[in-house]
Amino acid sequence: MVCLGNICRSPIADGLLRRKISEQRLNATVDSAGTAAYHVGEAPDPRMRETGKSLGTPIDDLRARQFEVSDFDRFDLIYAMDRSNYNNILKLARNKSDENKVFMILNEANPGKNLEVPDPYYGGDQGFIEVYKMLDVATDKIIEKHLK
Ligand code: 4NP
Repeated sequence: MVCLGNICRSPIADGLLRRKISEQRLNATVDSAGTAAYHVGEAPDPRMRETGKSLGTPIDDLRARQFEVSDFDRFDLIYAMDRSNYNNILKLARNKSDENKVFMILNEANPGKNLEVPDPYYGGDQGFIEVYKMLDVATDKIIEKHLK
């Protein structure tokens, strides 16, 4: 799961998918990262942590890191939250095989639409709830399509 800072969108996508995999006794490795390094080592944004906690997905233990080329070797599926993240990940791809792992996450539930998870960082609390809900649906789809 990849966004810009790895403190708002991708940590909750990561937390949702991890929780569902564990609850459903599935087997997959999930992680998240940011394309930027601004927040490396930080816990998720307090507003995203609060939203996650109140809706059943605590993410306090996650720590931000930057996406790196070796992530193409570690993971089969790489989900970008928005078009800018998508383009920045593709710039790091070494070959077609790397490129073919990268998807816009909302295309899982809305194929071909290239919808974006809006960046909630500069907005109010409602933005965090909306992000949570979009990613709740998207992570259900990921499980249904790729993990069952
Ligand atoms: P994220 O949100 O990409 O969903 O983690 C942001 C977090 C921090 C910044 C921008 C977006 N920032 O500019 O510091």
